[in-house]
Order: sequence, then C-alpha cells, then structure tokens
Amino acid sequence: MENNGIIRLGDENFDFPIIEGSEGEKAIDLRTLRGKTGFIAFDEGYGNTGSCESGITFINGEQGILRHRGYPIEQLAENSNFLESAYLIMYGELPNEVSLRAFERNILSNGTLDSNMQPLFEGFPLCAHPMAILSALVSSLSTYHPEYATNNRKVDLGHFDAASAILMSKVRSIAAMTYRMKLGLPMVKSDDTKSYTEDFLSMLLSKPEIPFEDTCGAANALDLFFLLHADHEQNCSTSTVRMVASSGANLFASISAGISALWGPSHGGANMAVIEMLESIHASGDDGSRFVEAAKSGQAKLMGFGHRVYKNYDPRAKILGKSAVSVLDKIGLQDPLLDIARRLERAALEDDYFISRKLYPNVDFYSGIILKAIGIPVEFFTVMFAIGRIPGWMANWKEISENPKSRIHRPRQIYTGSNERNFVKLEKRAQ
Ligand code: ACO
Repeated sequence: MENNGIIRLGDENFDFPIIEGSEGEKAIDLRTLRGKTGFIAFDEGYGNTGSCESGITFINGEQGILRHRGYPIEQLAENSNFLESAYLIMYGELPNEVSLRAFERNILSNGTLDSNMQPLFEGFPLCAHPMAILSALVSSLSTYHPEYATNNRKVDLGHFDAASAILMSKVRSIAAMTYRMKLGLPMVKSDDTKSYTEDFLSMLLSKPEIPFEDTCGAANALDLFFLLHADHEQNCSTSTVRMVASSGANLFASISAGISALWGPSHGGANMAVIEMLESIHASGDDGSRFVEAAKSGQAKLMGFGHRVYKNYDPRAKILGKSAVSVLDKIGLQDPLLDIARRLERAALEDDYFISRKLYPNVDFYSGIILKAIGIPVEFFTVMFAIGRIPGWMANWKEISENPKSRIHRPRQIYTGSNERNFVKLEKRAQ
C-alpha cells in the first residue's frame, strides 16, 4: 500500500499522497478516498488513524520515547518544572526569564473563584464525584468569563493568554473547594506568593487553624507528577478536546469535555483503579501472583499496565517509579502497596502473557502511590491527572483553532442496522 501511495481496489489503482512527519512517521493521505473510490477507511478505535498534523508532542511507543516540542521528557523532568513545561507545550518554545515570570504571574494571580460560584458547589450532592464537579465547573467558567468564551474559530492570542491563565489557576481552586465542601471544611484562599503547586496543596490540605506545611517535598513531587502528565499527543481526552474545538467551541467548553473523557477507567481513571487494585491484593493476603494469574485468564485487568501506543516501558512510569521511592523515603513511610506494585511489575515483566502482548507499566502504575503518600484522597487522583493535562489540552485547542485549514471533525460509519421498513401502528405491533 505504501507503493507510491497506490491502493488497489478490484481492478483499479488509486493514487494517494504520502505524508511524512518530522520524525519519519509515514501516513497515506486518504482525505480524497471516498470521493475517488466510494470506499471509506474503517478503523474502529482509530489505532491506525492520524486525525491531525501536530507539532506539540512526539511519541515513539516501540522505543518508549516521549518528547514535548522536541525536548525529551527525561530532560524536562530533570531540569524544568510544571509551569515552564506548560509554557513550552502551549507556545512551542522554552520561555526566557521575562516571559516565564509574566506567565507565572498571570496564572498565580488568578486563583480566586468568582463569589457567585459558591452556590454551585453547595448544589451538588455530597457523594458527587469530583470529576463530575470539575467538568461542570470548568464549563461554567465560560459564563463567568464570557469575554474569553466566544465560540468562533479564530484565536485571539491575548484572549488565549487570559483564558488559559484563568483555567490553569482556577482548576486548582475548584478541585480544592470540591474536597473541602465534601469534608465541611472552610475554604482556604489562594495565595499568589506561593508556587503553583504549594498554593494548591495549601488550598487543599490546610486544616482549620493549621496551615499546610510542606515538610517532605510534597510540592516538588506533585509538580513532577503534573509535568509528567502535561501532554500525551492524541489520546482519548485530547482527541475529545480537538473534536469539540473543531466545531468552534470555546476553550472552557472544549476542556470540560476532555475532563469527562479522562474520567473513564481505561484512561485517567486508571490511577484510582491501580490503588484500589493494590489495596484489594494487600487485603486478600495475595503476594500478587494470584492477581497476575487472574489477569492472564481474563478475569481481571492489571490496572496501570498496557497502553495503546507504548509497546515498551512508558518513560513516565520509569520516572514516577523512582519518584515514589524517594517520596516515601522523605516521608519516612513504608507503604506495603509499593512492595506489591514492585512484585506485580516483576512478575508481569517475566511472564510470557505480558511479554508477548508488550504490556508494560504505564504512567498510572506508580502515580497513585505518590499521590497517596502526599495525602491526596484516592477519589481525587483523576482530578490531579486533569490538572496536569490542562496545558496539553489547551495547546491542542490552540493548534486546531489557529489552523485556518482545519475542518469540523465528523467521522463516518458503516451502518449495520435494519434496512428500510414501514412504520407499524401501536395497535398492530406484537404484544
Ligand atoms: N491486563 C491484562 N491484560 C491486558 C491488559 C491489562 N492491563 N491490557 C491489555 N491486555 C490484553 C488484552 O486483554 C488483549 O489480550 P488478547 O490479545 O488476548 O485479547 C491484549 O492485551 C491487547 O489489549 P487491548 O485491549 O487490545 O489494548 P488497547 O490498546 O485496546 O487498550 C488499554 C489499552 C486500555 C490501556 C489497556 O491496556 C488497559 O485496559 N489497561 C489497563 C487500564 C489502564 O492502565 N489504563 C491507563 C492507560 S494510560 C492512560 O490513559 C493515562
């Protein structure tokens, strides 16, 4: 098929252009396929479909490579922090000192929520899932900031700067407020003299009369967690953001949809599921081997393992595995779940079932252990993922919205339902 982009259907050959990316990945450009041949491309789950050209993030899943704007994730994790990497992902280049400080200031000074949002929190049942609240309230930001929420396809860069700072900042306040409402704790105001992550932890974890104090490097560990989640090319939630943005929907509405997509256990919800799995293994007294057998026989899924793109170790999981050990060391905590995770990982990596299917730990495998050690409640793990992923979603929203050639996303289908038939009146239908 790669033969000069020729596809043979029946007795006819059809020519299609070949597109090549900057890292050498090739695609056959099928945009004219239906017009030329009457066929459509069927690719349920989109495993072979390139939905866009993008200059943001490069992944080579076979080799376990992840780069943002050309910079390897290992170098960013070692030398950068969440806000600087967010700038890089959103604007394409590392900032200079002046741009970085302005970017940080813009975000840090936007932490306070509109006072009219308070009754919204009160309206949710106490058992409401925080991802539902996050998605709803991020969408509601378009009502509090209508000037940045016009639904049109043209990006005004000034508006994007302002809307993205509002979103990055307030998403922390919404998460913290959700948690505190659940526990009946008073709100803690955002403090723009603190770093992004310290301010968030203080809003989230301060107790009445006892302000949060970071004695064990929690802010650094969470900052690294955010950085490692900042973007991951065309995953389910990012594709959702692009899909919604393709209709011209505003930034807040598009990202609210991405948050909903992230919620599912096959995607961001896996970080919660990993801890629940490790806890149930621990409670049952299993050393992990019974669970591995259950996963092999299809009775369970080894959560935090496997990835649509990585057929090698997820580079983020490597960094987070090390970070988990260092966080627990600093806190002086012995978490039996870390031992179980290590045993599971060893067992799976030596087992033919996992080897032959190229199933390796993904970003969620160790992240929950870190979040738990910092004191983040399990129900909020996916919210932490969402906060980290905001820059990537925004960069993708900006990229699609800035592209004058981008069209509304509208896939086709293969219809498998009934053929045409005549309507049957109620009294004539079989009872
Ligand atoms: N445990 C056991 N078996 C697995 C696992 C797993 N975690 N993941 C995949 N497999 C098996 C499948 O059963 C299938 O086996 P088969 O060939 O015998 O039928 C084979 O490996 C291929 O798996 P697919 O489901 O085709 O892989 P797909 O690319 O569709 O799914 C996914 C990827 C959703 C991540 C899957 O591996 C999974 O469910 N993992 C657990 C959940 C998880 O950790 N999700 C987080 C992903 S990372 C992220 O979103 C941040």
